[in-house]
Amino acid sequence: MQHSKFSKSIILASIALTYSISGYSAASKADYRDFVPSPEQPYYFQDGKVDFGTYNGFRRYHADCHVCHGPAGMGSSYAPALLESLKVMSYGDFVNAVVTGREGRDNMIMPSFAQNVDVIKYIADIYAYLKARADGVIGPTRPDKFPKVKKLIADK
Ligand code: HEC
Repeated sequence: MQHSKFSKSIILASIALTYSISGYSAASKADYRDFVPSPEQPYYFQDGKVDFGTYNGFRRYHADCHVCHGPAGMGSSYAPALLESLKVMSYGDFVNAVVTGREGRDNMIMPSFAQNVDVIKYIADIYAYLKARADGVIGPTRPDKFPKVKKLIADK
């Protein structure tokens, strides 16, 4: 009885300690290294720099999308401005459009990228880049970046 009460208080104290330590470290060094992208917050931006994934999205976009969608997501006479599309488009709808492709008005074709590994593998990065553009966080030029963390991105 006494014993179990004692261990319970030890456990509670150690839980409190764990939380206060992790709370402290999160507050003192939360930065791009702790960033985990999600559809709700796909990019990280601080001090004029984006996370490496978003930067990679800039590169992928300009390798595979800008011929039709214009530089920096600004659109062309052929295809819509994706920085406008992403103000209303969900991540799921975005992925769907890129994977399945589309046939638009006047036979303007959005090709399917389902077979393009360089696009499919980095689709979240491309989304992050365009979302940062849509939110007005970065401008049309090459963004500054934080170094790569965790996942290894082939740099070719
Ligand atoms: C060969 C030209 C071409 C290329 C390359 C291309 N697109 Fe498209 N895309 C289009 C056209 C045309 C449309 C409009 C189709 C329509 O009217 O429904 C479109 C539509 C889209 C849409 C839907 C936009 C909206 O507002 O509904 C998304 C998202 C999209 N493209 C993403 C991409 C991404 C990402 C890439 C690069 C991986 C890419 N596209 C490459 C031509 C292209």
